[in-house]
Amino acid sequence: MAKESPARRLMARLDELAAFTDDPPKLTRLCLSPSHRRAAEQFIAWTQEAGLSARIDPVGNVRARYEGRRPNAPALMIGSHIDTVRDAGRYDGALGALAALSVVEGLAAQQRRLDVAIEIVAFGDEEGVRFPHTLTGSRGLVGLNEPEALAQKDADGVSMREALQAFGGDPDHLGAARAEGVAAFVELHIEQGPVLEAEGKPLGIVTAINGATRLSVVVTGAAGHAGASPMNLRRDALAAAAEMVLAIEARARSEDELVATVGRLDAEPGAVNVIPGRARFSIDVRAPLDEPRRRAVADIAAAMSAIAGRRGVGLELTPTHEAAGYVCHPKIVAGLEAAAVAVGAAPRLLPSGAGHDTMVMGQRWPAGMLFVRCKGGVSHNPAESISPDDCAIALAALARFVEDFRAA
Ligand code: GLV
Ligand code: MN
Ligand code: MN
Repeated sequence: MAKESPARRLMARLDELAAFTDDPPKLTRLCLSPSHRRAAEQFIAWTQEAGLSARIDPVGNVRARYEGRRPNAPALMIGSHIDTVRDAGRYDGALGALAALSVVEGLAAQQRRLDVAIEIVAFGDEEGVRFPHTLTGSRGLVGLNEPEALAQKDADGVSMREALQAFGGDPDHLGAARAEGVAAFVELHIEQGPVLEAEGKPLGIVTAINGATRLSVVVTGAAGHAGASPMNLRRDALAAAAEMVLAIEARARSEDELVATVGRLDAEPGAVNVIPGRARFSIDVRAPLDEPRRRAVADIAAAMSAIAGRRGVGLELTPTHEAAGYVCHPKIVAGLEAAAVAVGAAPRLLPSGAGHDTMVMGQRWPAGMLFVRCKGGVSHNPAESISPDDCAIALAALARFVEDFRAA
């Protein structure tokens, strides 16, 4: 029987991993959830089949090391995340984590050791959907621990400390997740946008990653009777929030490359015949440069405050996440470009509008990303899709990069 190709095995594993969900038939694998734990266990089982010993680190990443020729050689770290958004696609994150494993399997099958060790990482918290704090996994690796984040609670009142403990992490020793001896970090990821498809190119090399600011908002008005309260005497929190959402959209539309999203909005008490007394929503603002993003966030806050004042409602704005933009390391960009060319794919250089663990890893080590074309540019959606051929060429380019990598 013909041997299964690495790309086929990778595509099959992506399908298998997609079955780990807390909300079937949808794929929802929020960080530190029971399905995330089961996916981590499966990932560990696959790394063990390749002869590696894998572990869950204190902040909830899965990590495994493939030694180099010399003991204690510096490590090239490769991987991506295995948490998902709600009703997700199966490639965002999982592709890069499983591709890292596949590259090491290729080396192990040939009993080939490199000058560098390879560290595989499957990050645990890239999406930031369950807890306001996000990128906890990569932040732990670079040593940026914020123990106060452990007190944050999810929508069901479970704290990050409790979730991390149940997952197999160690909330009392977050500092022990800090990685040492890392030479560089590289992440393979789907593009999540339409550029590669439009240009007929399977691969892209990321030049820079947009920075992001996230805030949570509480608007407080007065709940009241929907029939008995005249319109001019109301303090409707949801109507005020709606006006704020449109102000946010207008500010983002006013500037090229700036984007802003209200992805979640809840009204309380939430009954057909009650004026909403409270509205809560999230804001996510992104731009390639940090200064325009910060200016936009300040303008949005001022506009919201003016709306709140005019409508007589209270406004509480809490920043929940701040990630500076990252310019990918020139040595990694050049190395990925050469690897892509070597496997026959002339890559497109492009920025990433989406956030990635790479932007945190890049704060301490040279870092970069390889993008693979995805169908229709669709992501954060169950329709996410890549072709087996593109998967094969991306895997070949990643393997080539790893084989040619030289620590400085
Ligand atoms: C992660 O997918 C993000 O950019 O929000
Ligand atoms: Mn991702
Ligand atoms: Mn994502």
